[in-house]
Amino acid sequence: MQINIKEKEILPLMQGGMGVGISLSNLAGNVAKENAIGVISAVNIGYQEEDFLDNPLIANIRSLEKELLKAREIANNKGLIGVNIMCAINDYEKMVKEAVRLKYDIIISGAGLPLNLPELVDENTLIAPIVSSKRAISLIIKTWLKRYNRLPDFVIAEGPLAGGHLGFKNIDDLEKKSLEEIVIEIKDYLKEIEEKYKKKIYLFAAGGIRTKEDRKRLMKLGIDGIQIGTPFIVTRECDASSNFKSEIINAKSSDIKIINSPVGMIARAINNDFIKNTEKNRIPSRKCINCIKTCNKNTIPYCITDALNDSAMGKGGLVFTGDNIDSLDKITNVKEVISRFMEE
Ligand SMILES: Cc1cc2nc3c(=O)[nH]c(=O)nc-3n(C[C@H](O)[C@H](O)[C@H](O)COP(=O)(O)O)c2cc1C
Repeated sequence: MQINIKEKEILPLMQGGMGVGISLSNLAGNVAKENAIGVISAVNIGYQEEDFLDNPLIANIRSLEKELLKAREIANNKGLIGVNIMCAINDYEKMVKEAVRLKYDIIISGAGLPLNLPELVDENTLIAPIVSSKRAISLIIKTWLKRYNRLPDFVIAEGPLAGGHLGFKNIDDLEKKSLEEIVIEIKDYLKEIEEKYKKKIYLFAAGGIRTKEDRKRLMKLGIDGIQIGTPFIVTRECDASSNFKSEIINAKSSDIKIINSPVGMIARAINNDFIKNTEKNRIPSRKCINCIKTCNKNTIPYCITDALNDSAMGKGGLVFTGDNIDSLDKITNVKEVISRFMEE
């Protein structure tokens, strides 16, 4: 069970990009080493650099290169290495152009509609929007065809059980459709486009996928592969701090909460002391670096960069997670996670 892309036969499994600092070179490189698609998260990727708070763009661009070089060394030419760049960040265009210059294999973009992505990339860079509805993917494809005569190489259909920021307006919207229903409507639409334009578009599903049975059920609906996030957090190779990993291991699905993130989107996180504190107290930003387009520093209850940087460093903070985490109760390794999903 492999897909042929970029002159390689790779496993149809993509590791979800996880920021801040959760999927960097070690996780992505080790996933690629197993012949799957490893993904580095670009959001505040330079958070550990000394000059991050003074020159975030320079620190982020430097880290985008450092992490890719380290990941490539680990992967040893196996698999593919992608980068997840969220549309919602202020430096979106600059980060995408830099990723293209560095020759990342794939650019994956969600948290908004990447309507101008094709104009920022060359023809060798694979492009993959993350969407949660047929409406969103049809708008992206119509715009891309009209403006750039380009189609996506991959589409990631992210359902309501995914982790981090979610592509649904509110909790009511989140509960309207299952991942399976979203996959069916997106697959129907993509089939028409593939036939009309004679191009294969790989459809991957994401959000709460935990077993090979989940994968097989979704494959019957026409997906080509899966994107897995949270199960990779509890691996030795994951770049997250040990405190972050322990929060996932020690929490049950019932400890998860849908929150209103300060960036104006809903998100799924562990209902930990940090979240409980933010419900009672406003936490002022330590230093605004103007990272997210939709964030208003004067009204937010806390700063998303402070909250995610703290949790990446194991100092409390916001811990994003996908749903269905009861089975994620111990540290394992990347090879085991991949074979859990991929064995026949
Ligand atoms: C800690 C964490 C951080 C995440 N950060 C990002 C991100 O920066 N950009 C993005 O597009 N998706 C992000 N996601 C979503 C994942 O890439 C993935 O699609 C999703 O979590 C899949 O569901 P699963 O975790 O249930 O497997 C994040 C998820 C988690 C758990």
